[in-house]
Amino acid sequence: MRKVTAQVYMTVDGRGAFPKYPGWDRDTGDSNPLFDRMWIPRYDDVTTVVMGRRSFLGHRKVWTAKARKPTDPKYAHDYARFLDRVEKVCLSRRLTTPGWENARILKGDLTRIVAKLKREKGGNIIIEGGPRLLLEVFRHDLADDYWFIVMPVVYGRGPRYWGSLARQCTLKLLESEATQDGELLLHYEAVHGFKA
Ligand SMILES: NC(=O)c1ccc[n+]([C@@H]2O[C@H](COP(=O)([O-])OP(=O)(O)OC[C@H]3O[C@@H](n4cnc5c(N)ncnc54)[C@H](OP(=O)(O)O)[C@@H]3O)[C@@H](O)[C@H]2O)c1
Repeated sequence: MRKVTAQVYMTVDGRGAFPKYPGWDRDTGDSNPLFDRMWIPRYDDVTTVVMGRRSFLGHRKVWTAKARKPTDPKYAHDYARFLDRVEKVCLSRRLTTPGWENARILKGDLTRIVAKLKREKGGNIIIEGGPRLLLEVFRHDLADDYWFIVMPVVYGRGPRYWGSLARQCTLKLLESEATQDGELLLHYEAVHGFKA
């Protein structure tokens, strides 16, 4: 069965933003601690990345091999190559053509879309954002595990992750790690079917 992992990049106040803070752009040679932890180990087993339209368009602009500069660090080239290669699913009612290789557009009920993707052949699936899409994932308990990347900033603006849920989404902590720049990585498994 294809595993579905959702990624939640947020500030301490739950905003889906990428603010600057000491060390936010730390590249040690060719690597970056967050990429090393979050992406590189999964380049082989993940074959599908799902994004909402806004996040998809943001990634399409920046994270393709064509958009990379020769002076960019190796991890950035590797990530762009991975995203070009992997199957991308853009959720949108407005967009008609994806404009990125190996991409398709799907629309409709997210529970059905995730179930359909799980039935298809392929490796693991990452749901990569943005916040609006992730709220739907929590609402319907759609992921098998969650990676939270909590950035050490109370930002006060930007899209919010949190909104009301009809029932709690119960999680079991699998691992946690603080990076040298104060990002907190929290890896949770979803506890499906827990009766609160
Ligand atoms: N990893 C990330 O990508 C990430 C992480 C954190 C923060 N962010 C930031 O978050 C912002 C965007 O987040 P967002 O929450 O506003 O947008 P988003 O989740 O990326 O995209 C929302 C759009 O996705 C489409 N959509 C979602 N569910 C759908 C469904 N079931 N069927 C069809 N279409 C569906 C709709 O597009 P249509 O209007 O076309 O129907 C909706 O307007 C950006 O500024 C980005 O920088 C991104």
